[in-house]
Amino acid sequence: MNLMFAEDSAFITWLSKVITISRTFIRGAISNLLVCGIVMSKTLVVRKSLDKKTRQHLLEAMHGEAFAFVKYMLFSEAAKKNGHAKLAELFEKTAKVERFEHFAEEAELLGLVSSESKNLSDAIEGESYEVTTMYKEFAEEAKTCGDLAAAERFSEIRKDEMSHLAAYKAALESI
Ligand SMILES: [Fe+2]
Ligand SMILES: [Fe+2]
Repeated sequence: MNLMFAEDSAFITWLSKVITISRTFIRGAISNLLVCGIVMSKTLVVRKSLDKKTRQHLLEAMHGEAFAFVKYMLFSEAAKKNGHAKLAELFEKTAKVERFEHFAEEAELLGLVSSESKNLSDAIEGESYEVTTMYKEFAEEAKTCGDLAAAERFSEIRKDEMSHLAAYKAALESI
């Protein structure tokens, strides 16, 4: 009987050790799972770079917001001239939201504004496109269609873009 009791006692000691080790293991596993969950959820929310489609959508939205800003300012000027002060105020107020909230917030997300040299390179790319492709082709096509006033305006604006391009290039070289 004494021998059996001794064996039972050893068994109970062994069992309690197994239970303690198992508890420690389970606690570790649970805490690892929690850490993984937090890391994964953060990865899903905060991306290092924007998806290509999102970048494209931001650019499209910003073009729309920029156009709306200028258009509403022109509408506001017209309303003012026509004596509709309240309407002029509404157009101007809305224009400012498009520019200083919507456009600015999207530009921030896109990372539009960068270092001086990168901003100048970006500007040079835009002006180059206007000079070598856009206004050149628009002027030619307007002339072909017989829209001579538009053709002349596109040609004149193209000349302005040439001077913008030259000024930006000079500024970049001087940095
Ligand atoms: Fe907007
Ligand atoms: Fe320009």
